[in-house]
Amino acid sequence: MSSASQPEGQARLFFALWPEPDEAEALAELARQEAGQAGGRATRAETIHLTLAFLGDVAMERLPALQVAAEQMTGLAAFRLQLDRLHYWPHNRLRWLGCCQAPDALRLLAENLRGALIQSGFAVDRGKSGFLPHVTLIRRCTSPLPDLALQPVRSWMCREFVLVASRLDASGPGYRIIRRFPLATS
Ligand code: 2AM
Repeated sequence: MSSASQPEGQARLFFALWPEPDEAEALAELARQEAGQAGGRATRAETIHLTLAFLGDVAMERLPALQVAAEQMTGLAAFRLQLDRLHYWPHNRLRWLGCCQAPDALRLLAENLRGALIQSGFAVDRGKSGFLPHVTLIRRCTSPLPDLALQPVRSWMCREFVLVASRLDASGPGYRIIRRFPLATS
C-alpha cells in the first residue's frame, strides 16, 4: 500500500459513508452529465463517497486501535442522507454535491467519530471550516459551474460507515474498503 508519496508501512486512511451500487451509479451518472458541461474528471461509481473523517498517513500497526475507536460509533442510529444542492469550489475546481441541512445524525456521527479518534491519539484533518459534508462529483473542472438546487434530490440510506485506504496514482484515486461498521437500525 505504499507509493512514491507514501512512507513504507503506512496507509492513507479515511472514514466515509459509501452508497449502495445503485445509488452510486445514479450519482456517477449525475457526475458525467455535469462533466459534460464543465469538463474535468467525473467520479466513477465505485469511488463515490462522503468523507466523515480524514486521517492521512497512519502506521499500519495502529490499525487495531483505529478500529477500536470507530467501533464505539456502532450504537449510533442509521439515517437517510438527502443530497439536494450542487456546489463549486473555484480554488480546486471541484464540483460537489451537498445538503442544505445536514441531518443531525450525520453531524453526531462525524463529531463523535472525530472525538473518539482524537482521544485515541489520532490526528483528524477537517480543513479550515470544520466538517462540511460533500460528495465530490468532478475534479479539475475546465470551466466553473453555478451553485444549484438539485432536482430531483438524491438520497441514500446510511446503514454503515467504512474505513478506507486511498492510493493516488496517475489514473486518479483508488480506494480499498478495509472494514465496515454497522449503524443501529431499529
Ligand atoms: P475531496 O473529495 O474533497 O478531495 C479521500 O481523499 C477523501 O478524503 C476525499 O473525500 C477527500 O475529499 C478527502 N480529503 C482529502 N484530503 C483531506 C483533508 N486534508 N482533509 C479532509 N478531507 C480530505
